[in-house]
Amino acid sequence: MSERPASHADWAAIDATDDPEFFVRFLDSSRVAAIQAAKRDPAAFFSYLDLKPGSSILEVGCGLGDMARALAPLVGAAGRVVGVDNSETMIRLAQQRTSQDDGPITFRRGDIMALDFPDGEFDRARVEQVLQHVAEPGRAVAELARVTRPGGRVVALEPDWDTLVIDAEDLAASQAFSAFNSTCVVRHGRIGRQLSTLFREAGLADVSIVPQGILAGYEATREFVTSNMARAVAAGAIDEGAAHAWLDDLQVRAEDGRYVAAFLMFRVSGVVRA
Ligand SMILES: C[S@@+](CC[C@H](N)C(=O)[O-])C[C@H]1O[C@@H](n2cnc3c(N)ncnc32)[C@H](O)[C@@H]1O
Repeated sequence: MSERPASHADWAAIDATDDPEFFVRFLDSSRVAAIQAAKRDPAAFFSYLDLKPGSSILEVGCGLGDMARALAPLVGAAGRVVGVDNSETMIRLAQQRTSQDDGPITFRRGDIMALDFPDGEFDRARVEQVLQHVAEPGRAVAELARVTRPGGRVVALEPDWDTLVIDAEDLAASQAFSAFNSTCVVRHGRIGRQLSTLFREAGLADVSIVPQGILAGYEATREFVTSNMARAVAAGAIDEGAAHAWLDDLQVRAEDGRYVAAFLMFRVSGVVRA
């Protein structure tokens, strides 16, 4: 297998990079607040899924399995949570980090664009920060709809990276960074705004959109900002001197408590027609 340097452009093929742990470290550092909120009050955090004891839910692109574990108390011992990811690294770690005490959870490898489940297998299907990376997001949404039973619900949460704002002295560098990320790093960097259309095209009914503002802390985003800025410089999108000054400015802002970075996530939900 050919290896390439790990970067945020490679979320669809983590295991083919030279450092799959890069992606593990990123998830471990960037998801802390969301995981804590989900574990603290799963019923409130996942209220949009309307899960009941005995429900079955598929979590695709489950990564390290944190959200699958947080969901499990809502379906209880009679329910079922299945986490799927196309990365062997992620599935191995998700399994290692899960014990029987976490509830009825299983993990397995699979591709969101060709799910290995029969039609209508689950009551719910959920996906977060995955469709932006895959080759055919429309096909992936159609697959989620196929494996969800009639009357069941499919929910996706994806960012729109054009909405990424980072406060800095050099406004032009912030804008160039956001534009580079949404057009050159992420495969479908503007999927947030397109998600509801994909849901309708997949035949889902009662499609709803909830935009959510995400405040991204410095520790959670430092690696993302640094590595993507290095790519932008290498691609000639941003001048090297300006990039260094921008990164230094962000560091100082973080030390002073003035670091502000935020973006919009779109949570889109649809119901499988009977
Ligand atoms: C940015 S991470 C998001 C992980 C998790 N959903 C979260 O929000 O923390 C993207 C995940 O999708 C997985 N992935 C990428 N392409 C996939 C595909 N075609 N099928 C299934 N999983 C995929 C990656 O391996 C990775 O674990």
